[in-house]
Amino acid sequence: MTDKIASLYADHIHTVRERWDRALAETGFDHALIAGGSLHGAFLDDQTYPFFVNPQFKAWVPVVDNPNCWIVYTPGRKPLLVYWQPVDYWYKPADTPTGFWVDQFDIRILPDETKASEHFPRSGKVALIAESDGTVKGELNPKALIDYLHFERAYKTDYEIECIRRANVRSARGHVAAEHAFRNGDSEYEIHLAYLRAADSTEEEVPYPNIVAVNKNASVLHYIQHLRIRLDEPKRHSFLIDAGASYNGYASDITRTYSRRNDEFQKLIDAMDDMQQSLVAAIKPGVNYPDIHMMAHRKVAEIVVRFGFVKDLDADGVVKKRISSVFLPHGVGHFLGLQVHDVGGFSADKHGKTIPKPEGHPYLRLTRKIEPSMVFTIEPGLYFIDSLLSELQKSENAKYINWGKIDAFRKFGGIRIEDDIAVTKSGHENLTRPAFAKVQRAAKAAAARRRPSPSKKGRSARK
Ligand code: GLY
Ligand code: MN
Ligand code: MN
Repeated sequence: MTDKIASLYADHIHTVRERWDRALAETGFDHALIAGGSLHGAFLDDQTYPFFVNPQFKAWVPVVDNPNCWIVYTPGRKPLLVYWQPVDYWYKPADTPTGFWVDQFDIRILPDETKASEHFPRSGKVALIAESDGTVKGELNPKALIDYLHFERAYKTDYEIECIRRANVRSARGHVAAEHAFRNGDSEYEIHLAYLRAADSTEEEVPYPNIVAVNKNASVLHYIQHLRIRLDEPKRHSFLIDAGASYNGYASDITRTYSRRNDEFQKLIDAMDDMQQSLVAAIKPGVNYPDIHMMAHRKVAEIVVRFGFVKDLDADGVVKKRISSVFLPHGVGHFLGLQVHDVGGFSADKHGKTIPKPEGHPYLRLTRKIEPSMVFTIEPGLYFIDSLLSELQKSENAKYINWGKIDAFRKFGGIRIEDDIAVTKSGHENLTRPAFAKVQRAAKAAAARRRPSPSKKGRSARK
């Protein structure tokens, strides 16, 4: 059976070429020269940093782990892939390319990375998309071209959406294993390893460092330490995991939060989960993404009033006095794709015009109107962050806060629930929830296979 990704890719590369044709024509270039990127050495060391491929390169080809490659594209011609494959016995050279995408390229094997320029355009105006050291000829990252491409990156092809869908399944496997490890009493480090193993990923393959936060550590938005400490049962309260996976260079970005007990923190998680689902339900073409962000603030405000963290104010008052920003100090989401925080979130058009963030919301990364084929996260949170709470305590809003109740919840750190959403013509598809359902179904089926069926049991009993 041929994988449907192959036929989707043929349409994808057609769209990519067509976008570049228009972008190059409009910005006055004859050729595009796109570097995959090179390895960077650490200071005074012979080690290199992990390789991060140029996202504009991996938009063309699912080659994410081989440095020193290039794409040379001239509209109307088959794109050239200059593919680094040295003779080397220190490191393993990349395998010769095979698979669903290779027919779309004229592939030139490059044994010596210093000779790549032999394949570059000889004449005409070249747009060079690279981190350049100045040795390669061409206009470096022309702003007009980048603006054009970043604007269009927001509209994912069906191939890209399928890759993100599969990245979601991969990370759902990791999330299920991680929850199990937490409930088993494992340390953050052990949970992190359980995640990677189940998501079939190395630390370098995941699209961003795993956030594996037990208890109060969940109040650090990007907590990337992995403590080796196993806590005794009475000291374990909560678990927040924000972890993704990659598929052909496309990312998923998922967060779940758990309580150790069936307590009020669990009720707060349930309330946040309901509110996250109501935000997702509002996603459809034509809605302004910042309105979803503001809706999240209003709903967090309702929750902090309902749970008694705030007194003598209604939800509108909580938002107006900016108290909701103490509990939800980040944007409600961002574009997702080749990068976990994908580009183009502020673009008003292809020509570099941007849409400002709402006043007082400096961390929102997406201000565009929602349109079909966009993919973004919806990730409201509610945290108990000591530094923000201590500012609140010094402010005139301190009188509205039930400090005893806040203090009782600091040990849980906070809650974030994050799903990945693809916008359809009339609504949306949640890429994350069905991925969890699929993984849970598979786990159930595997457990049933391991259990002997009653009739077999009977037979073996008679033996
Ligand atoms: N994992 C980073 C974020 O959710 O934006
Ligand atoms: Mn995110
Ligand atoms: Mn995340």
